[in-house]
Amino acid sequence: MRLHVAEHPLITHKLTVLRDETTPSPVFRQLTEELVTLLAYEATRNVRVESAEIVTPVTPTTGVRISEPRPLVVPILRAGLGMLEGMVKLIPTAEVGFLGMVRNEETLEPSTYAERLPDDLSDRQCFVLDPMLATGGSLGAAIEFLFARGAQDVTAICLLGAPEGVAAIEKQVGDRDVTLVLGALDQKLNEKGYIVPGLGDAGDRLYGTV
Ligand code: URA
Repeated sequence: MRLHVAEHPLITHKLTVLRDETTPSPVFRQLTEELVTLLAYEATRNVRVESAEIVTPVTPTTGVRISEPRPLVVPILRAGLGMLEGMVKLIPTAEVGFLGMVRNEETLEPSTYAERLPDDLSDRQCFVLDPMLATGGSLGAAIEFLFARGAQDVTAICLLGAPEGVAAIEKQVGDRDVTLVLGALDQKLNEKGYIVPGLGDAGDRLYGTV
């Protein structure tokens, strides 16, 4: 697994406003979108391209285009939805699938309650969106789901991560092709499973407490 933690003053500035408990939902949503666009720039560094012949007003030349099959963006419901706009702004030609993960209260294991994805993900570069990497339970389950559908190359983009979650994903994926892109690596999880210092419940802050 490759881990990339963003180190850029603009990202840290935007994350600081995002973390602030007085930041209202509309600003929180806007900042999330902007942060994801910045993180997506890093996360797509190895997006597959093919050469393309074009003619500029001056001369014929060779450039590149994003290859087919197009990258697949997969927000994990609900909070991952808040990251979708920022991602497709950067890759408007990406396809979008959805995964809903919930924790089974008996087994405590995450399970899938909704999915809308192509049946065959072999050859697809998949970009999973989940704002908070806490224990790694739901992100880990989402990554397994994609690999079970044939994906071979998965990049997860999270605004914040806890060391516990990073370690759990690292242990789970072994030497499979997984990249984790974080806006920041925070200190720890608290006893309630919140990231510290974190930003609270990302879904609630994006959408209100319904
Ligand atoms: N999910 C959140 O929304 N926030 C946390 O701090 C941990 C998990």
